[in-house]
Amino acid sequence: MQSMLSVLFLLLANTTAGYLVPNPSGKYNVTLTTGPLVDYSRNDPYAATPTPRALMLSVFQPARCASTVPALAMPNKTADYQGEFLQQTFNISADLTPLFLEARLPVCADHAHKRCSPLDDSPILLFSPGYSIPRLYYNVLASAIASEGFTVITIDHPHDANILVYPDSHAVYNNVSIQDSPTWDAYTRAADASFVIDQLRNATAMAELLPYRGARPFPTDRVAMLGHSIGGASAIIAASQDPRIRAAINWDGTIFGSPPPPGLGLSEPVRLMSQPVLFLSHQDFLDPSWLSTWPLLRGPKMVAYVANTTHYTFSDIPSLFEAAGQSTAPFADLLGTIAPASVVCILTAYTTAWVQAAFAGEKGGLELGEFPEVETLMKGNF
Ligand SMILES: *[C@@H]1O[C@H](CO)[C@@H](O)[C@H](O)[C@H]1NC(C)=O
Ligand SMILES: *[C@@H]1O[C@H](CO)[C@@H](O)[C@H](O)[C@H]1NC(C)=O
Ligand SMILES: *[C@@H]1O[C@H](CO)[C@@H](O)[C@H](O)[C@H]1NC(C)=O
Ligand SMILES: *[C@@H]1O[C@H](CO)[C@@H](O)[C@H](O)[C@H]1NC(C)=O
Ligand SMILES: *[C@@H]1O[C@H](CO)[C@@H](O)[C@H](O)[C@H]1NC(C)=O
Ligand SMILES: *[C@@H]1O[C@H](CO)[C@@H](O)[C@H](O)[C@H]1NC(C)=O
Repeated sequence: MQSMLSVLFLLLANTTAGYLVPNPSGKYNVTLTTGPLVDYSRNDPYAATPTPRALMLSVFQPARCASTVPALAMPNKTADYQGEFLQQTFNISADLTPLFLEARLPVCADHAHKRCSPLDDSPILLFSPGYSIPRLYYNVLASAIASEGFTVITIDHPHDANILVYPDSHAVYNNVSIQDSPTWDAYTRAADASFVIDQLRNATAMAELLPYRGARPFPTDRVAMLGHSIGGASAIIAASQDPRIRAAINWDGTIFGSPPPPGLGLSEPVRLMSQPVLFLSHQDFLDPSWLSTWPLLRGPKMVAYVANTTHYTFSDIPSLFEAAGQSTAPFADLLGTIAPASVVCILTAYTTAWVQAAFAGEKGGLELGEFPEVETLMKGNF
């Protein structure tokens, strides 16, 4: 079956235009801008020589625009790296590089010329990816959430992402020593998130990142954070340290329990915190680290799982298969059996409802009855 897929992907690779992911399902289309954000006050803890920490961001903004254009889902250099990475990670023979190389996202074309203006006062959601997974594996999910009226900023953490390509096309790669450090790099990721929020207030930095907006800061009174895997754990750790993050959502991320590095004045990864926290896990899984974190969460909190999913369902991979006209069935052990469109719909609905309730200060529970795939396991403080 896998070799048949390889043939199909080869055919796909020979089509020059690539394949287009469907328009996001929400009320808006989205603009997409990518660029670096450099923290000159902080050296990268995982660089071989002293180097300022240089993040790469994708900024998705909701917008009304009558036409969209296909945008590359990732730079070719990033896409070219993924086939071998996934072959090794998943022990599969299929080369999935064309799935990434050929993916095109429908984005608003002309926001640079102000014919399509993004909704600039929308709430902001920061997104932190899984360990070693580039932020560009979450474009479809980020677009879907943005299309509901959120500015979504996905963050690449340098030396964690398997490859991170900057606009001048130089690349940095994963530094495996990350896995030796306490709780991996969740603290570094949390510091990255706080730095991004600082810079949202920095008109000069925003003008460099989003030239079409001009030199204007973003309001930071409605910021929340979510992430996948260690990125989801980082969202909670970041929110517990930074009160500007008003809600946290963890998609299937273990909160590694080792003590935080010295100097932070912490004894646990997560401090006592009052912001609402939502955990969404894969089928039938209740992470023991979530149970030990539970008593530290003094705000509304909920754990639910999504049926027929695995850890990797929480990414664009299933959606890209579907958009490319490929079945996920040969990869059911890796990607689950849930319909790819349902995953996007469920993750978007729960994430946006959770954040909206947090911003509205609502204490009501979150029961989105229309999704039989979602099973609530625990909730509290409603
Ligand atoms: C990886 O990170 C460690 C610090 O944890 C650093 O000493 C080392 O030089 C880094 N390696 C590379 C190749 O950047
Ligand atoms: C989104 O773009 C499509 C074209 O790709 C257009 O038909 C649709 O009206 C747009 N929707 C909004 C809300 O701007
Ligand atoms: C990236 O690859 C696509 C084919 O997959 C090609 O059409 C495009 O020109 C390449 N872009 C760059 C910048 O090399
Ligand atoms: C990888 O898959 C092959 C068969 O497809 C199997 O023989 C081998 O044991 C697997 N390796 C690992 C490390 O799981
Ligand atoms: C604001 O952004 C500019 C441009 O990136 C940078 O040089 C400056 O240091 C930033 N200011 C602060 C306070 O971070
Ligand atoms: C999970 O998948 C099985 C098999 O495809 C299906 O019968 C079942 O209804 C699914 N469960 C849910 C809750 O959607």
